[in-house]
Amino acid sequence: MGEITNVMEYEAIAKEKLPKMVFDYYASGAEDQWTLQENRNAFSRILFRPRILIDVSKIDMNTTVLGFKISMPIMIAPTAMQKMAHPEGEYATARAASAAGTIMTLSSWSTSSVEEVASTGPGIRFFQLYVYKDRNVVAQLVRRAERAGFKAIALTVDTPRLGRREADIKNRFTLPPFLTLKNFQGLDLGKMDEANDSGLAAYVAGQIDRSLSWKDVKWLQTITKLPILVKGVLTAEDARIAVQAGAAGIIVSNHGARQLDYVPATIMALEEVVKATQGRIPVFLDGGVRRGTDVFKALALGASGIFIGRPVVYSLAAEGEKGVRRVLEMLREEFELAMALSGCRSLKEITRDHIVTEWDASLPRPVPRL
Ligand code: FNR
Repeated sequence: MGEITNVMEYEAIAKEKLPKMVFDYYASGAEDQWTLQENRNAFSRILFRPRILIDVSKIDMNTTVLGFKISMPIMIAPTAMQKMAHPEGEYATARAASAAGTIMTLSSWSTSSVEEVASTGPGIRFFQLYVYKDRNVVAQLVRRAERAGFKAIALTVDTPRLGRREADIKNRFTLPPFLTLKNFQGLDLGKMDEANDSGLAAYVAGQIDRSLSWKDVKWLQTITKLPILVKGVLTAEDARIAVQAGAAGIIVSNHGARQLDYVPATIMALEEVVKATQGRIPVFLDGGVRRGTDVFKALALGASGIFIGRPVVYSLAAEGEKGVRRVLEMLREEFELAMALSGCRSLKEITRDHIVTEWDASLPRPVPRL
């Protein structure tokens, strides 16, 4: 294997190493996978307007998320069942995030428990929540996450039912028998039955609350003091409701294109959400971020930070903790370079004028003067 020089190269390595059922689960999007491609393609249609002759000998990427200081605006999204990728699974991810000085979000459906992940050592961690029909399960889990030192809840709101991921249906995807959804082990909800289609889709249909609504965001606030990030917002309308409902932040996400196909790429939806929140709460983005330039573009459109999903599971599969560290390092280095080459020394110097999008075309541009 030659030297790995970008985050995307881990995908092919993971594909070679992992059983087909596991790789397909990580890689797939819903139905035609139009949104999956668009999450990447949309970034490529946004161009830079770099500024020159600015002293960029010092670049500061530090930032604060919900009051927590981190080393860069690049964080880890929740991805389920990481021990399918590597025996160390979520432990490796937690250690890599902590070494990089950034935030890891742990999935509800992790193969290590909140307590186990906490025991890996210090680190700022968020907990992603799926709301089960049985609210006692939810209340207990939130309490455990709080006690284990998790700092925020990322409430996933785009999954009342599981999107149709055809590879999982064909593969009859189910959690391998030697693993459990560790947070739910003691509650007898840690196993996924084999089904005649996707075992995960059947699990979701049985356990996850389809009736979830804004009133439950209020309910969640009565059972926890942790700040709540609403994960899965794609419109200005919902952004405004999220602010009113007391969300501490919004994650513009289409679940890595695994839920409703033909929703826009997240980078296309970002700006309308940012405008709707009127600076009252921070807006984050995930989906298709693979380059430092992507991070820059998201910040230029108003994001306070981004999260990565698949690059983490692919690099875990390839090299465990070392791989995830490398992914975070490469994105950090690329982002720093993008800042330097566009003339930005700190995150607050990244502005809307540093990029141009296709929807800017109709706006009057400065008239060239000779
Ligand atoms: C996810 N995602 C996800 N989201 C969530 O809220 N809870 C979860 O358990 C999972 N699990 C999960 C597994 C896998 C394999 C993937 C690829 C994604 C969605 C995830 O948090 C994030 O929104 C996307 O992964 C971001 O897109 P990229 O970076 O994968 O393109």
